Amino acid sequence: MTGNDLRQLYLQFFKDKKHILIPSASLVPVDDPTTLYTSSGMQPLVPYLLGEKHPLGKRLVNSQICFRAEDIEEIGDNRHTTFFEMLGNWSLGDYFKEKQLTWFFEFLTEILKLPKEKLAVTISAGGLSIPKDQESKKIWQSLGIKEDRIFTYPIHQENWWSRAGAPDKMPPGEIGGPDSEVFFEFTQVKHNPKYGKKCHPNCDCGRFLEIGNSVFMEYKKEKDGGFSRLPCKNVDFGGGLERILAAKLNTPDIFKTDLFWPVIQEIEERVGKKYLGNEKEMRVIADHLKAATFMINEGIEPDNKLQGYILRRLLRRVAVKARQLNEAQELKSDLTSVFDSICGQVIKIYQSQYFKAKEGLKKRVNNVISQEINKFSQSLDRGLKEYKKASGKELNELFAFNLFQTHGFPFEITQELFAKRGKKIDKKEFENIYKGHQQLSRTASKGMFKGGLADHSEKTTALHTATHLLHAALRKVLGDQVKQVGSNITEKRLRFDFIHFKKLSEGEIKKIEALVNQEIGKNHKLGVEEMALEEALKKGAVAFSGQQYPKRVKVYRVGDFSLELCGGPHVSFTGSLGEFRIDKEGSSGAGKRRIYASLV
Ligand code: SER
Repeated sequence: MTGNDLRQLYLQFFKDKKHILIPSASLVPVDDPTTLYTSSGMQPLVPYLLGEKHPLGKRLVNSQICFRAEDIEEIGDNRHTTFFEMLGNWSLGDYFKEKQLTWFFEFLTEILKLPKEKLAVTISAGGLSIPKDQESKKIWQSLGIKEDRIFTYPIHQENWWSRAGAPDKMPPGEIGGPDSEVFFEFTQVKHNPKYGKKCHPNCDCGRFLEIGNSVFMEYKKEKDGGFSRLPCKNVDFGGGLERILAAKLNTPDIFKTDLFWPVIQEIEERVGKKYLGNEKEMRVIADHLKAATFMINEGIEPDNKLQGYILRRLLRRVAVKARQLNEAQELKSDLTSVFDSICGQVIKIYQSQYFKAKEGLKKRVNNVISQEINKFSQSLDRGLKEYKKASGKELNELFAFNLFQTHGFPFEITQELFAKRGKKIDKKEFENIYKGHQQLSRTASKGMFKGGLADHSEKTTALHTATHLLHAALRKVLGDQVKQVGSNITEKRLRFDFIHFKKLSEGEIKKIEALVNQEIGKNHKLGVEEMALEEALKKGAVAFSGQQYPKRVKVYRVGDFSLELCGGPHVSFTGSLGEFRIDKEGSSGAGKRRIYASLV
């Protein structure tokens, strides 16, 4: 079975159960500043899990592309990846535990024909004022799961899911609930006593693989630390496509499925080594370049902050791993072409599902990679020289930070280098130095949460002002129901997401462009005022949909045309913007549109 087959089977199974298919949201969350990248299928659905009505109904299904940066250091074993596809189905106040567990079980045992005896399930033992999940236990028993295959864990350790983790880790306003996980047991894998006397589903030895998680999302954390009930009892199910495929194929190594294997084979070929014996390095390379390809596909470029920093870290880690695998000089000079052909395999695997414009993507991948490799090779050589010169005593967090700051050495790479000389560095301390520096140089990523700004250069500032004009023009042409839900600005273009249910016509696009250009031509002086939030809203200032604002806010005014809550910065006069052009308009999920525009 292939990954594409499995994805189809899952989506069809839930479509047959009256679920509506929603497309995968982008890897960069559009209206959610909690993470740099979408890290689960539920993330784009948070407003609906909180009780807002979803335009497509109460039963949804999809396959969501996800990236988890916190897993970067775990990559190298047989089952962890930073990038993965999460198969998901949701009930927004419709069905609950009984149907969810029964349907997933039916999918595993009847559609995929996984042997029941190889499955194990876990349920919540309760705690912290949440009761034990007896109901799920009974359902699993009724489905024929034996008592000794049902495992119970205390809620502060396992079997509770929220984006922040355990119940006590959740900030006020965050949602979560007890969950029930399904594991597949690879009986051919011997338990490793290094991980504990007895093997069990959550043991790390690799015998058990988590293949699905049904979260019963019914709680919201309150300011006083307690929990309130959400307006509806929801189901949030997520299961890794790669992992379910590995279970179906009965291979404990997800890299041996067709979602990875052609990539591994390409690595073998290009570095001249076999997978066997070099698994760790090759898995890192395969995972990171897959993630990088998806990021580049969304227009991310390597940078020293935000999403671009993650991409830079991935590419640089791969460069280091590739060097470690093959220290021959030819590889060093040819790294771009090696990366290129590996990414080519990634594009091939996903082209029918995610990369329709594959030729353009290939070019972009090549550009981004060759530029980054060039930059990195030079700085790596310079940094390594400094590192070699340094005495053991000098190898501390500040030294690591300077390597990072001056030569772009990712923390993890420095950590590995230090370890070779028997030196440990403290990540927290490194981060403290990093944060202190950010504050000093005023490049704190705070701006991103307000306006989606990547940096504060002249070009991005101009595009930010253009974003306000676009927002106002959209409302004038399409109506006041238009609400901004996301924004992202790079040096070259702005991206604007908003709620609107129809594709824009040619005529509407022309009108919007003309209106923006007309206001640019009037050369308005930008006005800014601070006032109470209430007063700003009363005056009709527009804001990001669903965003929380402080009690006092800054309001930017462009003549009588636009009044908007915003942290800035902006140009002084609109005349400096140049000509505004809409480059692309399309859907960005159910009921949402996305515009790319630039200043020429
Ligand atoms: N949100 C849950 C998870 O990420 C299930 O979809 O595991």
